[in-house]
Amino acid sequence: MPEMYKNGLARIKEKEIEEKIKAKEEAEAAKAAMQAQIDQAVAAALANAGAKAGTSGENASSEQSADSASNINLDWNKASSVDIPVFYPGQASMEWILGRSHGGKRAFSKGDRCIECHGEEIETLGNTIVSGESEKDLEPNVIPGKRGSIPVTINASHDDEYLYLRFSWAEGTHAPVPFVEGGKMDPENPMKLAFMIATDDVEYADRAGCWGTCHADANTMPFQPKEDLLGGDLAKRLNLSDGVTKYIKETRTKIELKGRRGKALGGWDKLKDQSDIDAAMADNQYMDLLRYKSGSKEVEDGSILAERDMHGGQGAEVEASLKLGTWSVIVKRKLTSDKPGDINIEPGKVYNFGFAIHDDYSSARYHHVSFGYKLALDNAEAEINAVKQ
Ligand code: HEC
Repeated sequence: MPEMYKNGLARIKEKEIEEKIKAKEEAEAAKAAMQAQIDQAVAAALANAGAKAGTSGENASSEQSADSASNINLDWNKASSVDIPVFYPGQASMEWILGRSHGGKRAFSKGDRCIECHGEEIETLGNTIVSGESEKDLEPNVIPGKRGSIPVTINASHDDEYLYLRFSWAEGTHAPVPFVEGGKMDPENPMKLAFMIATDDVEYADRAGCWGTCHADANTMPFQPKEDLLGGDLAKRLNLSDGVTKYIKETRTKIELKGRRGKALGGWDKLKDQSDIDAAMADNQYMDLLRYKSGSKEVEDGSILAERDMHGGQGAEVEASLKLGTWSVIVKRKLTSDKPGDINIEPGKVYNFGFAIHDDYSSARYHHVSFGYKLALDNAEAEINAVKQ
């Protein structure tokens, strides 16, 4: 190889390394700033804990000070910490992931995880989609000023009985939704958080987290069925009052991926017989779902199989606060449960985990979502490693 090229290559390599180092330093600085914000918020909360409510200001943070003394007792210094960004997915459904417009379709089908390809570019991915710049036209209804991604820190721990998760992230500025009166889709709830846990028994859960449940024919998605199609026999078996909700492919006889000759993508109406659906449930083929609404402070427990079914379960305790511009959501969930639709979290096993944040009064598909990650107890190889205390 001519000397000139070699030098050129060396320079490129050097530049790449420099850029990597710079990116790492920036990420560390951002993390330190975030931690400082969290520490400050915690200190303020502790200082406020004994004080009377509503004495310290006029904004949301003072509203929260009344209940800032935590009932969830935990030494968070003993928990693990991992940074996982959530991003704005637009209309990217499972059908889209498995369809011809997605560059990663083939490798994904063979077993690659989303984060193997996209783990380092989550921010860019979200920005391209939210701004409407995506060549894939994943967002026809652009919300000006909405953020493309949100860096989230997850702390995880457990004791003999409970799993504890703490999600922290910075509140963004309000971006009014131009196609909704008042600019807020869900004016009652500034923030909602949801997460799913599943075993490898659900197809795609191992690679894609929640993604397998998100279909092109769900409510607010491009192939949402017209209302007059939602009646009939299926309405006796599915709750279609809010349109089609999430479902997994194990409950359908066919899912349309190609969309040739104008066929709608998805398979909401190709429901299997109830006996097959019951068998899927018995085989752990469901996603355990927990949702929290910041406005009503409601905790909903359910699962996703033929549809999203918030049937209750072991429940969980959730404490959420917005202090000094930082959201903190603490979840205390039993490790094991005898309720249907609850995944038991056992030592030595690895679970699939994904979560979503409805930021800034948003609803339905206008959320930020994570790719799929692994959760386990005392296992440093899992991205979310709940450490014993
Ligand atoms: C083998 C690598 C690979 C895997 C695995 C993979 N992708 Fe992709 N993905 C790509 C490539 C390549 C593109 C196309 C990039 C482009 O053309 O802008 C892409 C594009 C995308 C886009 C569109 C970005 C845009 O510019 O609009 C989304 C969203 C996306 N992928 C989500 C996912 C999700 C979700 C998963 C897992 C369920 C996944 N990908 C798995 C390689 C992959």
